[in-house]
Formats: sequence, C-alpha cells, structure tokens
Amino acid sequence: AYVVTEPCIKCKYTDCVEVCPVNCFYEGSNFLVIHPDECIDCGACEPVCPTKAIFPESDLPSEYAEYKALNAQFATQWPNIAEKKASLPDAEAFKDKKGKRSMLEP
Ligand code: SF4
Ligand code: F3S
Repeated sequence: AYVVTEPCIKCKYTDCVEVCPVNCFYEGSNFLVIHPDECIDCGACEPVCPTKAIFPESDLPSEYAEYKALNAQFATQWPNIAEKKASLPDAEAFKDKKGKRSMLEP
C-alpha cells in the first residue's frame, strides 16, 4: 500500500483524493491517511501531492517508518474523503516545514 507521511500535516491539499480510483483516503483535522487494505497500489496519488508526502510502503523513508502504522490506525477511525476540497489555510506556510509530527491532531 501507499502511505501518507509528515509533509501532509497542516497542509492537506487533497489532490491525492481526486485521483484515487478506489477512494481509500480518510480524513483527520490536519492530515490524511490511506487505508492499507483498500489501496490497490496504482501509484496515481504519489506524483500529484504538492508536499511529496506519499510513498509506496516498499520505499518509505526510514524517518517516516511510523507512518505505516499511523495510516492503518487512523484509516479505521477517521471518515472517508472522496472529493477534493480546499487546502488548510496555512498550507503554503507549512508546505516545506520539517518536524511537523507533533502537530498531527488525532
Ligand atoms: Fe489510491 Fe492508487 Fe494512491 Fe493507493 S496508490 S491511495 S489506490 S491513488
Ligand atoms: Fe496531503 Fe498531499 Fe494529499 S498534502 S492531502 S497527501 S495531496
């Protein structure tokens, strides 16, 4: 499965949602996740994310290793999102910021 990682936090551009053929994205207040059992590994979402937050599980950077479990966990707790919406208001300011893990709202 593909995995959403830290750069999405506080941005949530949702371009990924628009291209996913199986609607397997789930939405928290400032982060999105992919349901690992629903993702069909088509790869369509990876290149369209403005923050480059999405990676295939097999190519997950080690610094983002914990996001595999975070996606699986939140995908069962958060509501599905099937349509693109406006990004968060501070998205541009946080797009290239590092160290956003502590800002993830469960
Ligand atoms: Fe959806 Fe394809 Fe991305 Fe998986 S890889 S989340 S199926 S767009
Ligand atoms: Fe997040 Fe990128 Fe999608 S910022 S909402 S993973 S397009």
